[in-house]
Amino acid sequence: RKHLLGIDGLSPHEINDLLDRAEAHVEIGRQVSKKLDTLRGRTQINLFFEASTRTQSSFELAGKRLGADVMNMSVASSSVKKGETLIDTAMTLNAMHPDIIVVRHHAAGAVALLAQKVSCSVVNAGDGAHEHPTQALLDALTIRRHKGKIARLTVAICGDVLHSRVARSNILLLTALDARVRLVGPTTLVPPAFRDLGIEVTTDMKAGLKDADIVMMLRLQRERMQGSFVPSVREYFRYYGLDQEKLAYAKPDALVMHPGPMNRGVEIDPAIADGPQSLIREQVEMGVAVRMAVLDAVARNLPNA
Ligand code: CP
Repeated sequence: RKHLLGIDGLSPHEINDLLDRAEAHVEIGRQVSKKLDTLRGRTQINLFFEASTRTQSSFELAGKRLGADVMNMSVASSSVKKGETLIDTAMTLNAMHPDIIVVRHHAAGAVALLAQKVSCSVVNAGDGAHEHPTQALLDALTIRRHKGKIARLTVAICGDVLHSRVARSNILLLTALDARVRLVGPTTLVPPAFRDLGIEVTTDMKAGLKDADIVMMLRLQRERMQGSFVPSVREYFRYYGLDQEKLAYAKPDALVMHPGPMNRGVEIDPAIADGPQSLIREQVEMGVAVRMAVLDAVARNLPNA
């Protein structure tokens, strides 16, 4: 594929292929001194219209580990601030002949729109509440490395599903690989449409976490709740915050995940986030390997590859 716009549309074979390639990049992803030359002579632009710590820095590291020239476009100091549109910005960058543009944007669908306009490969680094495919891939790689498989695992995705592109991409990926996905959260934050798709939905953490192999917590995205119901932090933590008592509902060997950034004391108790069952730091580490695999995969479809 020329682009990676979402998990939607990827076959289980394509997902497993990306995970296998990522597995092969884990060691090299850790070693600054050992660069590959897969993307030597290639230019990668990271175009982030929304804030990012993990995704932008790991895409930068991944591109550099593969030998690409990587440019981080600073949207805050660009002509976007003078009113230049997304498409005009993209066409301007396209005129400089990049090979890959990695895009994060606050609007769902913006990355797919941009991909129709430019001649290079486009990778979605998160578009609104739509998709965050590389996050789902790095989550799957982390799970697979610990549990040895994805199929038949019970994964409870908990909290603010409504505003979460991470949840959407994970639901698509995990169900494609035959995991059992459960969504847990208040009715206001879990769209009923998921039930119509045959996904288990519950408002009760005890029922949702029962026998779970993986407990995936989501950030309460209060910045995306303008005008709608915003739960109080105290109440939210009481009913949906992951603490030792609620984690005990899951399997004894259950593992805890969170895509970050975390609201400590809101959706997760710091003792759990930093505890022995947490994979949160490892998720970040897998981000570099997965993004190397994705950049490598799209680059194979570039002209002169
Ligand atoms: N998980 C994630 O996308 O984190 P950043 O917003 O820091 O990139």
